[in-house]
Amino acid sequence: MLAVARTEADIRDVVQGWRTAGQRIAFVPTMGNLHAGHISLVEEAKCHADKLVVSIFVNPMQFNDSNDLDCYPRTFVEDKAKLEAAGVDVLFFPEVSTVYPDGMDLATKVIVPGLSEILEGVHRPGHFTGVTTVVCKLFNLVQPDCAVFGKKDYQQLMLIEQMTKDLNLPIQIIAAQTKREATGLAMSSRNGLMDDKSRDSARKINEVLIACAENTLTKKFSLLEAEQSAKQALMDAGFEPEYVAIRRQSDLSSPAEGDRNLVILVAARFAGVRLIDNVELCLV
Ligand code: PAJ
Repeated sequence: MLAVARTEADIRDVVQGWRTAGQRIAFVPTMGNLHAGHISLVEEAKCHADKLVVSIFVNPMQFNDSNDLDCYPRTFVEDKAKLEAAGVDVLFFPEVSTVYPDGMDLATKVIVPGLSEILEGVHRPGHFTGVTTVVCKLFNLVQPDCAVFGKKDYQQLMLIEQMTKDLNLPIQIIAAQTKREATGLAMSSRNGLMDDKSRDSARKINEVLIACAENTLTKKFSLLEAEQSAKQALMDAGFEPEYVAIRRQSDLSSPAEGDRNLVILVAARFAGVRLIDNVELCLV
């Protein structure tokens, strides 16, 4: 039976009980409007712990656009049913006033310099400060042994790993693979904002990434040429690309001679929706 914790005292009480009983606790933070990608994180988390907490909190601090925040789909009843069916133990569903009791403006922030300022950070200023701040607060409220994040949000995952290391948080960060539609489109709450035809055409973003990876692996193109040809392919298909970037997996900086473990990251607008995706590749 899924229990719902709404306050700081509720979540601390239940986790304290498990800890006293010697149980290992996993945590999956989300903003709700759950799809199969989120549930794949839940399945992964279950392999690493005895008890599982999922949070749903639409974090106002990470939205640059108040309209985006207002329009973010809130589907609590459906989400709760999905989490119950997936065997989650506790749903932590705090109010904004529980997470930010003194408001957000003067609240202490957690900033990961450098990594938060590139790629997504350029196009969504302040977004990652909101993400790292809320994840740090949720970690302190839930105090899990491990937490699962999706590679779908590759830069976010890396920021959380960096923050956890820098702040000596005793939490194991587990990375989960991106769950995709049959077309290859990465699952996302934003996909629901497109009609069926646009959602089908949006598969192109993944196809372009795969072609870009092949062009890089076969050395058909230099990295710069591969990025440019991917950008052009997206524009030809009616996308407005914000960036296509081939980076090092380790720190998302530009690859140097001899770097083998790379990731191609893309952000593009299509049918009025901002989509992100990525693919890892290893040069031989
Ligand atoms: P949200 O977008 O709800 O995503 C919650 C988690 O689900 C993140 O770790 C994200 O990477 C993962 N996820 C989303 N789509 C996925 C997919 N197709 N396959 C696998 N995992 C996927 O990311 C956030 O919320 C917020 O920024 C949060 C970390 C909760 C902080 O507010």
